[in-house]
Amino acid sequence: MTAPVVAHRKGYYHEVKAGKRYAWCACGRSRTQPFCDGSHAGSGFVPVIFTAQHDEDVIFCGCKQTGTGPFCDGSHSNLPGGYLEDDPHSALNRAVALVEPGDGPVVRLDGECYVFSTARARLSVRGAMRYCPVLTAALGARYQSQFYAEMDGGSSPVIGADGRHTVLFVTDGDGEVEISGRRFPVAPRTGVYIRPGEAYRMHNRTGQLLKFFISAGPAAEDLIWREDMPADFETGHPERCATIDPAQRHKMAERYYQLLINREHGSTLVTQFIGNIPLSKAEPHRHLYEEALIFLNGAGMVWTLHTKTAVAAGDVLFLPRKQVHSVECTVPGGFDVVGVIYPGDNPSINY
Ligand code: FES
Repeated sequence: MTAPVVAHRKGYYHEVKAGKRYAWCACGRSRTQPFCDGSHAGSGFVPVIFTAQHDEDVIFCGCKQTGTGPFCDGSHSNLPGGYLEDDPHSALNRAVALVEPGDGPVVRLDGECYVFSTARARLSVRGAMRYCPVLTAALGARYQSQFYAEMDGGSSPVIGADGRHTVLFVTDGDGEVEISGRRFPVAPRTGVYIRPGEAYRMHNRTGQLLKFFISAGPAAEDLIWREDMPADFETGHPERCATIDPAQRHKMAERYYQLLINREHGSTLVTQFIGNIPLSKAEPHRHLYEEALIFLNGAGMVWTLHTKTAVAAGDVLFLPRKQVHSVECTVPGGFDVVGVIYPGDNPSINY
């Protein structure tokens, strides 16, 4: 036997116990997946032994193609046959209730899941900046917060990272981000990283509307305003901006994503990526991380088990950990999306 058998085209969710030893099936022949039952005998494969250090939720690899055994690394997305898709017109999906937006910005789906419309949000004014919360504990988020902001010109107030890893994403306009006294140019589709001890502000260079999202982890209820810009830029992490680079795309069959801000920049808690979802509906799945997904263009539908709602550019989908969901793009060209995930650093891991 030269290749393992694909036992399951997704990961296996499991709650491991501290100190317990697990033998993960690497050959794919076990009838007690994801664990070894001895069926590997004569195959050339042996199980991978794992002893849990903590009680925690993990996703064991089911497709046996992972490079990080015993855990899923998202390799199942590239199996022959393509990314797992779902028929939006199936009998099961026809029973899913459509939730129409009301006057407010939030459309609630199953559980704590919701879609936030920046177009319908009421913005607060702070100096040259208008902003609103998109993700907070009050709205149901547990790990991260997110704010939407825009500026017609000038400079924003100084905002303190206040001990949190902070990532920005610019969707429109040109300008500069100033981080603890050091300036970097920003343009549409730039990701920015701010260290927990620093402060930042945006400068609008052109007078064209500058729009950006601010994400932070751990979560904060509001932005933290500071009187002055400190001059304490952390020089040990000089790379702070990330832009689109097709050479860095990770393929997931017809889909792809590119990591923007991650551990390589120093962000040990929050990971930001940009991706493309083609004209299709993904099979319903879950993640172990909390996620905010910003839709940059296109149009489609967000599905949970019992409810769905339409989404378009400027909307943000909030997904709590373990939320069953699926995103459907209904226009040619697909959705471009920016995701912020926490805790986690690989957006292709699911179950
Ligand atoms: S049965 Fe697959 S590794 Fe033992």
